Amino acid sequence: MRWIFSPLDKSFDKSAFDCGKPQLNDYLKKYAWQNQKKRYSITFVATFENSKEIAGYYCTSALSIEFANIPDSLNQKLPKYPASVMLIGQLAVDKKMQGKGLGKVLLMHVLSRAVRISSEMGIFAVRVDAMYEEARNFYLKYGFIPLKDAECSLILPIKTIIASRERI
Ligand SMILES: CC(C)(COP(=O)(O)OP(=O)(O)OC[C@H]1O[C@@H](n2cnc3c(N)ncnc32)[C@H](O)[C@@H]1OP(=O)(O)O)[C@@H](O)C(=O)NCCC(=O)NCCS
Repeated sequence: MRWIFSPLDKSFDKSAFDCGKPQLNDYLKKYAWQNQKKRYSITFVATFENSKEIAGYYCTSALSIEFANIPDSLNQKLPKYPASVMLIGQLAVDKKMQGKGLGKVLLMHVLSRAVRISSEMGIFAVRVDAMYEEARNFYLKYGFIPLKDAECSLILPIKTIIASRERI
């Protein structure tokens, strides 16, 4: 399948989107565009070619994390002040498309953007706050590591992303 990734705009059909989690459905339908207009967060949507129906989406914004919360396995030789991160606020796939690889493609898309942006502005890692146990397991599978202060908040350093791409 050929997925098209685009920044959200009013031309997309979000009415039928259902990932099984009301909070994530509501975010896309009620808040994503409002937040994007204010530049609070930017949403990217995945559509199948020639379709405007949203099959999956993620949104990102900037955040910082306290040095004290960075896991010991990652905090060696870091400056002891807050680190900038890209936050994946939401990432979800419509139920009809779950289990077919789109979640992984969305994640790879956002990680690629993080690497690209990190060449122009300091970003130590990508962070996600997993709202559900299944989401947490999904991110753990891709190497995200829990922060010290919250087991459901996980990070993946940009250096790790770049190194894993070089191995492929
Ligand atoms: C979690 C979610 C994004 C995964 O998307 P998906 O399209 O179903 O996942 P994919 O088909 O791309 O799976 C990619 C890989 O991750 C694995 N995977 C998928 N969901 C997983 C989970 N919950 N836990 C662990 N691994 C998972 C798959 O087995 C697959 O592994 P493989 O490549 O070794 O076969 C999707 O199920 C979803 O939107 N869930 C509801 C919303 C949600 O909880 N979002 C996260 C909140 S931030």
